[in-house]
Amino acid sequence: MRARLAQTSLRTVHKCFPVLPRVAAASFQYPVLVVPMARLNILRYPDPRLHTVAKPVPAVDERIRRLVDDLLETMYAAEGVGLAATQVDVHERVIVMDTSETRDHPIALINPELTWASEEMRVAEEGCLSVPQIYDKVERHASVKVQALDRQGERFEMHAEGLAAVCVQHEMDHLRGKVFVEYLSALKRDRIRTKLLKKARDGQRDD
Ligand code: NI
Repeated sequence: MRARLAQTSLRTVHKCFPVLPRVAAASFQYPVLVVPMARLNILRYPDPRLHTVAKPVPAVDERIRRLVDDLLETMYAAEGVGLAATQVDVHERVIVMDTSETRDHPIALINPELTWASEEMRVAEEGCLSVPQIYDKVERHASVKVQALDRQGERFEMHAEGLAAVCVQHEMDHLRGKVFVEYLSALKRDRIRTKLLKKARDGQRDD
């Protein structure tokens, strides 16, 4: 998800994010291998792969930890507040988010499940890294509780309100193949589709 962030926080993103080098199992015979994180390519609406339903993660292993790190790297580089694996064409139930103003609270949710949602609904303006430069209002639960596994494979529960509640619902939608523009009218959605297809055809920069 993309939020209209205060400009002041954007330039400090990379400094704030704790970069954790991946160190392979070291032995006396081999030098320590540090694998750099990678920025992944973000699928753009109306790419049909965005409508793929993600599968549960079978085990939180090194492959999944690497995916989490790459998603975070990609999300911060794109100045997003949330990113789902679906958006980088990996169809497993992994999302990352950071809705802190300081951009230094990365959260990974693996196999997230909604366990509670408030009756109270709230309308907020949303954007999405897969739908560049489009913002529109979507109604969602004002607060939710989500259970998930963290980067270490430990189960935890998150009680999200405000922007975090919007973000986690938006990202969990991605995992079931739903993009936020599907909440908008067919007319608006068609306009967005046409605009983004034209932009892709023209090869314009979108940010
Ligand atoms: Ni999104």
